[in-house]
Amino acid sequence: MIRVPRPAFHLTPRRNWMNDPNGLVHHSGLWHAYFQYNPESSDWGNMSWGHASSTDLAHWTEHPVALRHRPGEQIFSGSVVAEQDGGRLIAHYTSAYDDGRQAQSRAVSDDGGLTWSPDLENPVLDRGTTSFRDPKVVRFPTADGRDRWILVAVEADARQVLFYGSDDLRTWEHLSSFGPLGPGGVVWECPDLVPLAVDDDPDDIRWVLLLSTNPVGDDADPRGSAMSWIAGTFDGIAFTPDTRRFARLDEGRDLYAGVTFDSAPDGEAVMLAWMSNWRYAHAIPSSPWRGAMSLPRRLSLRRDCRGRVRLRQEPPVFVREHLADTPSKVVLAARPFAELALTGHSLLELEWDPRTTGSLRLRLAGDADAFAELSHDPETATLRFERGGPDAEAVHPDFASACTTGLIEDGSTRRLLISLDGPLLEVFADDGAATITHLVMLGDGPVVASLQTERAGAVRASTAHLAADRPTEALAAALA
Ligand code: FRU
Repeated sequence: MIRVPRPAFHLTPRRNWMNDPNGLVHHSGLWHAYFQYNPESSDWGNMSWGHASSTDLAHWTEHPVALRHRPGEQIFSGSVVAEQDGGRLIAHYTSAYDDGRQAQSRAVSDDGGLTWSPDLENPVLDRGTTSFRDPKVVRFPTADGRDRWILVAVEADARQVLFYGSDDLRTWEHLSSFGPLGPGGVVWECPDLVPLAVDDDPDDIRWVLLLSTNPVGDDADPRGSAMSWIAGTFDGIAFTPDTRRFARLDEGRDLYAGVTFDSAPDGEAVMLAWMSNWRYAHAIPSSPWRGAMSLPRRLSLRRDCRGRVRLRQEPPVFVREHLADTPSKVVLAARPFAELALTGHSLLELEWDPRTTGSLRLRLAGDADAFAELSHDPETATLRFERGGPDAEAVHPDFASACTTGLIEDGSTRRLLISLDGPLLEVFADDGAATITHLVMLGDGPVVASLQTERAGAVRASTAHLAADRPTEALAAALA
C-alpha cells in the first residue's frame, strides 16, 4: 500500500475522518476552523464538528470535538459568526436526524469557541424536508450601519439556495429562493454569499454565490464533486445573477465545500475548502487521518483583458513570504530540460515567456509508481493537468485523470505558483485567475520536478521548502 505523507502546512485531523470546513471564523486573533468529523473512525459517519485553530493559517492546533453527534442526530455542515456586541460566537448547523429530516440548529460559545451549548429550542429552522442543509450566516450592511443577518442554505435535492433574514440570529424569516439553474443530476451543497469589489472598486460590489455540486443517481458523472461560482446583486432579500451560468471555481478534482471565514481582518474573503472528492474520498489510503483542507485562499474579483469579471484565488501571505525568502533561484537559459529537487512539502514558482520557450511541461515524481504532470500549450492558451501511474490507478478507478483549464490570452509572461504538501497539490495560474487543485500520490520521500520546454528559453524557478513543525508560541500564548 502506498504511503501518504501527512501535509505540513495544511489542516488535517490528528486521526479519523474529516470533510467540509464548518464554522470558519476569525476571533480574538485566532482563525478557527471547525470541520465535519467522525470522532470514532476514518470513514464518514457519526458526523460531529471537529475543531482546530491557527494564528497564521499555516500551523493548526487541534482542539476537542466542539459539537458531538447524539443518538438520533448527526451534526452536519454550518457556520459560525462573531456577535457584534458581547463577543459570543454563534453557530448554525444542520441537525441530520435519523428519520431523514434535516433542519437548522443553533449553538452558542461563551469561551471563544472551545465549548458550545446547543439551543434548547433546536431546531430553530425546520421545513420538514430531508435535504435542507448547510446554513451559512453572512452579514448584510443596512443603511443604519448595523448588519442584518442573512442565512443561506440549500434544498440540496431541489437544487435551490434559500435566503433567510434575522435581526437576532434566532428567528429566521424566509426572504427568497434561487434556482434550480444549470445541469441536473447533482445535489447543491454548502452555499456561501460573499461581497467582493471588482478591481478593489468600493462602488462596484458584486455578491458572489459559491456553491458545491455533487453528482447523484445511477449514472453519476465520474468526475464527481466540484465547486462553482456566480456573481450578481443581492439587495438584502433576493440574489439576481449577472449571467445565466455558474462558472467552475477550480478545474481540479479535489476542491469541495469551500466557504469563507466570518470577521476576517480587513474584511477579506478567505476561503477554505475540503481537498477531496466524494467519488473516492473513502478510498484515500492515508492513515490514521483521512481528509485535508486546502490552503486558505483570498478571493477577489478582477476584470481580465477582455473585460470579463473573473474570480481570483490567491494563496495566503505565508506562501508569498516563503517564496520571497527563497535562496534558490534558477534560470534555465539554453537548456530545454532541467530537474528541480523538492522535499515533498515545497512551493515552486515558475515564470517564463512562452514566445521564446514554446510549450512547457512539468512532471512531478517521487518514490511511488505514479506521476503528476502539468503542461502549458501557448497555442491554445491552456494548462493541462494529469495524474496517473499504477499507484494512482490503485487508489480508485476514477482517481487517475486529466483536466484542462483555459488561461488568459495576453501573450506575455506566464507565472505558475505550485504548492505541494504531501498529497495536496494546488496550482495557481494567472495570479489565481485559474486554479487546479488535486490530490496526488507521489509517495513519502523527496519529489523531483522535471521541467521541459519546447525550445530553449529562460524559465525562472523559485523553490521554498516547508518543514512540518510545531504550533507557534504565539498560538500557545493566544490560547492561554
Ligand atoms: C458536503 C456535505 C454537506 C453535509 C455534509 C455531511 O460535502 O454532503 O452537504 O452537510 O457534507 O457530512
